[in-house]
Amino acid sequence: MEINKLFLITTLFILQSQLFLSPIQSSNSGLFREYIGALFNNVKFSDVPINPNIDFHFILAFAIDYTSISSPSPTNGQFNIFWDTDNLSPSQVSSIKNQHSNVKVALSIGGDSVGDSKAYFSPTSVDSWVSNSITSLTQIIKQYNLDGIDIDYEHFNNTDPNTFPECIGQLITKMKENGLISFASIAPFDDDQVQSHYLALWKTYGNLIDYVNFQFYGYDQGTNVSQFMAYFETQSSNYNGGKVLVSFISDGSRGLSPENGFFSACSRLKDQQELHGIFVWCADTSKAKGLGFGYEKQSQALLAN
Ligand SMILES: *[C@@H]1O[C@H](CO)[C@@H](O)[C@H](O)[C@H]1NC(C)=O
Ligand SMILES: *[C@@H]1O[C@H](CO)[C@@H](O)[C@H](O)[C@H]1NC(C)=O
Repeated sequence: MEINKLFLITTLFILQSQLFLSPIQSSNSGLFREYIGALFNNVKFSDVPINPNIDFHFILAFAIDYTSISSPSPTNGQFNIFWDTDNLSPSQVSSIKNQHSNVKVALSIGGDSVGDSKAYFSPTSVDSWVSNSITSLTQIIKQYNLDGIDIDYEHFNNTDPNTFPECIGQLITKMKENGLISFASIAPFDDDQVQSHYLALWKTYGNLIDYVNFQFYGYDQGTNVSQFMAYFETQSSNYNGGKVLVSFISDGSRGLSPENGFFSACSRLKDQQELHGIFVWCADTSKAKGLGFGYEKQSQALLAN
């Protein structure tokens, strides 16, 4: 009797530990993501608090297919690094990943600007852009031991409507086939031209895109909770079947800020089982604010419990 009971308890314990260790458990837990490195204010991975009970993605911002900040011109898919490599180096990537088994690191391509110019998506042709992108990004991803990619082009010249979806779709397809990345996200916002490009991509290649980092901080300052909930429903139906993540901007300058009820909106979505994750733009600004990354901690605590 006693032996059976002990056996049962041991078995349950083992089953339970396996449950906690299984990858299924980890992919069901909350996802927190934060952009880092675009503003060159010495922010490091280790500055940002990391809750062990969630999945955590740093997103390096940005790699851009432009020559340089000082004299920027487009390079048709030959990517260069434009983040703060002094503070966010390959060895710092290894170190943060070694210290936290729940941390993955991605890079984002595109962004709003390069130096004083807008960063345009401007491929010469689909085939040449894809080929150049694979070559240059493979090198960066291997050098930095990265895990994923985020697509954040925000400006488009009048290209054929198929060019953006085909370039990006083929890039993600090949990178996943090669095992170079394990996840991909896109970062659209509510602007007609931007949405037309990303929705066309979603229509053909949505099944390859793991997360939609929708820039909810692109909405007006003073957005309230009910407006935010409506925006979320609209974008979830636009990116139908996708994991649309909610977001705020660290300086509170736009969208629904933490001060105005961002976390109430998150709790409501959580109750509705629609909270797929939270992302923040950006660690650089949060560090500069000097408030100890309080909203990052609050986001992660909400995702963890
Ligand atoms: C895209 O169009 C803008 C506006 O006409 C122009 O200033 C810019 O040079 C163009 N960029 C590229 C990369 O073609
Ligand atoms: C949110 O803002 C909208 C538009 O200004 C307004 O109509 C609505 O009453 C506000 N809702 C709340 C709960 O304050």
